[in-house]
Amino acid sequence: MENTRRSFLKKMTAAGVGAAGLAMAGNASATTVTGSSEPQKKKTAGKDDGKLRFGFIGTGSRCHEHINNVLAIPGNKIVAICDIQQGPIDRTLKHIAKFNVDAPKVYKGGEREFEKMLNNEEFDCVIIASPWEWHVPMSVAAMKAGVPYVGVEVSAANTIEECWDLVNVSEATGSHLNIMENVCYRRDCMAALNMVREGLFGELLHGGCGYEHDLREVKFNDGKNYNYVPGSGDLRMGPTAFAEAQWRTQHSVTRNGDIYPTHGIGPVANCMDINRGNRFLSLSAMATQSRGLHKFIVDNGGENHPLAKVRFNLGDIVTSMIKCANGQTIIVTHDTNSPRPYSLGFRVQGTEGLWMNDGDHVYVQGKSKPHRWDDSDEWFKKYDHKLWAQLDAQAKEAGHGGMDFIMMYDLIDAIKNKKPAPMDCYDAAAWSAISGLSEMSIARGGALVDFPDFTRGQWIHRKPAFGM
Ligand SMILES: NC(=O)c1ccc[n+]([C@@H]2O[C@H](COP(=O)([O-])OP(=O)(O)OC[C@H]3O[C@@H](n4cnc5c(N)ncnc54)[C@H](O)[C@@H]3O)[C@@H](O)[C@H]2O)c1
Repeated sequence: MENTRRSFLKKMTAAGVGAAGLAMAGNASATTVTGSSEPQKKKTAGKDDGKLRFGFIGTGSRCHEHINNVLAIPGNKIVAICDIQQGPIDRTLKHIAKFNVDAPKVYKGGEREFEKMLNNEEFDCVIIASPWEWHVPMSVAAMKAGVPYVGVEVSAANTIEECWDLVNVSEATGSHLNIMENVCYRRDCMAALNMVREGLFGELLHGGCGYEHDLREVKFNDGKNYNYVPGSGDLRMGPTAFAEAQWRTQHSVTRNGDIYPTHGIGPVANCMDINRGNRFLSLSAMATQSRGLHKFIVDNGGENHPLAKVRFNLGDIVTSMIKCANGQTIIVTHDTNSPRPYSLGFRVQGTEGLWMNDGDHVYVQGKSKPHRWDDSDEWFKKYDHKLWAQLDAQAKEAGHGGMDFIMMYDLIDAIKNKKPAPMDCYDAAAWSAISGLSEMSIARGGALVDFPDFTRGQWIHRKPAFGM
């Protein structure tokens, strides 16, 4: 493959990119690209079979879903995996063995073991499916190690400083940072995007979206079942808990903001051409009181359960309102601590009509019966996205209704054809920035806070590319 670390480092040196380039980038938090111009020697065994070489950092359940799709698409192989725990490593090796392919090399143990993997191996793509607090350190390390395509799970970053780190290092290294926002590939979201692009909804005015998912059983899972099952186990969080309860729950203790915004905002940002002719300007957020997690512990473990003493900071429902440069407003909701069915609550509305995901409604002036909703299926069949029309059968076999497969297909297409990441560092930064900004705004009583322009003015001229 051309895109080796060696050729990347050569390109970086030729372009004079380094600490000086970063200093010019005008970032509040300068991340330095240290790497000497001498590439380190890497093991390149097996690189001549023409297959794309994948690596995985963090081998929990999300990693398994990515593995399914990487191996379902011909021409890929998994070179190495990295985790700090033996359990996920064992489960992942077993999972990979089912595909009858070579076992990957395993890097395990220390929290920084991934650095060894990145320095030792040659990759075309590394997928990061680790706890949120590790997304940016791992992405930055992978880009600096010369990995040409880095796929980072959602949210990509937790703070504004981390958002800048992703942008600055991607720009400085030339490595493509792709946020793995699978909901952007959901069939209805892509059909709605088609309708927006065909002008069916007119000029867009407003968006609504969110992450409204009862995660109480995930946040206290002791591992006896896939989720915590009341009455059948103990409530746990932290190191003795299982999977996301080991790390995700702690974010609800220390933070108060929209800590998981991208499933909602990704598809709406695509409809609104964010970073490509439009951008997020400012945000104001408010949070309700925090009740659901404590109540869940008391209801299921009693008042004397050790976790009943934990003070959760995260408001049960966090609402952020965003203003865009082209005039639109967007309301983003985060709601994970209360009993409720799942919804991402999409609403895309313009001067001629709208899509409302709750209820699966579409209304198009002049085509729908006046003041009556149409079933969105009727419209979405007609405006089905070409990727779905092409990949329907294969996608249906994959997880999450097929959107994960289509996402991986699109990323692999970019790698093979040396195209930019379908959802790039600017998308990752702008979408993830809702976390840091909503936390700031809530801490200041809902004060309006400004979005950084992560594109540094490029948004004015950049053209829409997602799903084109
Ligand atoms: N897009 C989606 O639909 C979707 C669905 C589920 C999860 N996710 C995201 O994927 C990511 C992973 O989620 P998950 O459910 O698989 O979590 P998980 O807890 O099951 O897996 C995370 C893994 O990372 C490992 N890890 C922790 N620190 C590490 C380190 N320093 N080095 C190497 N490995 C380390 C853990 O041991 C664990 O095995 C999260 O960001 C989550 O938000 C996205």
